[in-house]
This record gives sequence, structure tokens and C-alpha cells, in this order.
Amino acid sequence: MESAIQLKALTKRFGSFTAVDAVDLDVRRGEIFGFLGPNGSGKTTTIRMLCGVIAPTSGQATVLGHDAIKDPEAVRRRIGYMSQKFSLFEDLTVDENLRFYAGVYDLTDEKFAARREYILRMADLVGREGELTANLSVGWKQRLALGCATIHEPELIFLDEPTSGVDPTARRHFWELLYELADSGVTLFVTTHYMDEAAHCSRLAFIYNGRLAACGTPGEIRALMTETVLEVDVDDAEAALLALERVSEIREAYMSGAVLHVNVGASSPASVVELLAAAGVTVRGIEVVDPTIEDVFVHLVTQQRAAGETLAATAPEAVAVPNPPVSGSPDA
Ligand SMILES: Nc1ncnc2c1ncn2[C@@H]1O[C@H](COP(=O)(O)OP(=O)(O)OP(=O)(O)O)[C@@H](O)[C@H]1O
Ligand SMILES: [Mg+2]
Repeated sequence: MESAIQLKALTKRFGSFTAVDAVDLDVRRGEIFGFLGPNGSGKTTTIRMLCGVIAPTSGQATVLGHDAIKDPEAVRRRIGYMSQKFSLFEDLTVDENLRFYAGVYDLTDEKFAARREYILRMADLVGREGELTANLSVGWKQRLALGCATIHEPELIFLDEPTSGVDPTARRHFWELLYELADSGVTLFVTTHYMDEAAHCSRLAFIYNGRLAACGTPGEIRALMTETVLEVDVDDAEAALLALERVSEIREAYMSGAVLHVNVGASSPASVVELLAAAGVTVRGIEVVDPTIEDVFVHLVTQQRAAGETLAATAPEAVAVPNPPVSGSPDA
């Protein structure tokens, strides 16, 4: 299949700090590609390079067949960008925001009228054209922002944490809009912190400390985890985590929503039960589960941190301090 985005050793340094470190990536046309990673891992910096907003330090980026470094203007005309921080003018109405973006992309009046009607319907904003954007709830703002980012019918859309701060119902609705766009052949490159949204993507990449740690379909990502994962429901999660942390054979233990996920590592499910009982923790339920994408990412982060610590012991000045691991579902 034809590529929408092709990256070869894409790198961005800010002074001596490497924000994006030799990233190779191939995003195919028509897919919903999820770009995941903890805070500060390099997601926005990567997107900004792909949109031609900032220049890479080294490496190559081809976007829709154009060299994003040599010809950012050609790229910008054919993409849509819903940025993490700013997309809409709060002091303009719904209609005025749409008009502004139509102006940016030089839409004819006829084209604008058609797109406006389509977007208002898609975003369920018919009848609210005259409302001040500041008065819309976050979910509605995000739909309008998506409308503005797609006013010129781009072939590829970058969405940087489009659902951050949006309630679960509005998030579901937003994803339905993304599916609709993907069905019409548009390529979507989406960053998110929400692990449940990873499952909506056709393929995923996980970036950590600027480096690509994994890439594949959700199924392929889950298959990276070969160790046993337990889901444990306890009365005292804090005490349970403390007890589990002391056992070196246990790889990871963290809160996933309201329950614990435990990668038993070299230990065994039976010993986890014993250990929790000895710590005075009541286990309400325990079962072996198929690893989730979150389990795999937590595991990758733990591995990389351990590798960083080993390296730090030999060459302290050569190692950047790792970011905290990805936390549990922000919905919880
Ligand atoms: N202009 C800049 N100058 C210096 N450092 C920068 C600059 N832009 C980003 N960084 C640093 O690069 C790293 C990656 O930042 P980036 O915004 O790409 O992360 P992110 O994955 O998008 O994080 P978040 O999930 O919080 O949005 C961070 O440590 C950030 O502080
Ligand atoms: Mg970001």
C-alpha cells in the first residue's frame, strides 16, 4: 500500500537535548495511525516537523510524496492539523471560525458554502452557527476544531491529543467522526494519552524519550508481551502495590482503572496471592488476563528505564533521566 508518511531517522535536538531520536516510521494511506507516548516523549515535536512548522536536525520526512523539509508549503496545502494547544478563536462564533479557516485555505464562496454545510451537519452544530466558541463545551469545541482542520478536504490529518479533557461520551462521538473520515479515504495520525483509544487505531507506534519503542497493529503490540499478566481486585491497592514492589521477580504492578495489573515476571500467580495475603490485603478477585496495550507500554517503559539505569551505573553523564511511565486510564 502507498505510504502517507515515511520517516527515516528523523531527529530533533533542542541544544544538547534530543527530543526526537532517529525515528523510522511508515504510515499507510487511509489508516488511523495512533502515536502514543507519555508526556514529553516527543509526539508534538514529531508532528510539528511533519507539518513543516519546525525543521528537523537530521533525517528524512516524506509526507504525501513531498519532502516535508524541502517543500513544507506543498505539504501544508494537503494536510489538516488540529493542534494540541490552539485550534479555535474563542472570541469568534462557530461560523466565523469556519470562515477564518476557509480564508486560510483560499476556498471559493461556493466551495465554502458546501463545506460549511457538511461540517455543521457532521459536527452536529446546525443551529449553533452564531454561538460564541468560548461558550461551547470542550467536546463541541473539539468537533468544531476538527471541522476547521478539514475545511479544505485534506488527505491527511494530524490530530494532537484531540480528545484530551473530553468526557467519555463525547470522546466516543469524536471517534465516530474519525472513523467516518477514515472510511472516506483520509489518513489520520492521532496522538492520545488514552490507552482505550489505542484499540481504535489500525496501527500504533509508541514513543518514549524520543525513541520509537514499538510499532504495529494493536494485536501485534499485545503479542509483544509474553509474560503472564494478572488482573487483581483488592481492598487496599496502595498496600498491595507496596508489597508487590518489594518482590524483585515481579516486573510491573500498577493501577489500571480500578484494578491492579501485575506482570508476574519470574514469579507465579500463586505466589502473588500468598504475598498479598501475607501483607494483609484482601483479594476480591484475581485472574490471568490477555495483556492490554497499556500493559505492553508499561512493560516497555520499565525495560527502557532499567536499561537506562544500567547505563547510568557505567556512564552517568551519558544518560537522560527517563520520564515517568504511562499512567493508568485517565478515565479512572
Ligand atoms: N522548542 C523547544 N525547546 C526546547 N525543548 C523543547 C521544545 N519543544 C519541546 N521541547 C522538549 O522536547 C520534549 C518533547 O516534547 P513534546 O512536546 O514533543 O512532547 P509530547 O510527547 O508532545 O508531550 P505531551 O504529551 O505532554 O504533549 C520535551 O522534553 C519538551 O520539553
Ligand atoms: Mg504534545
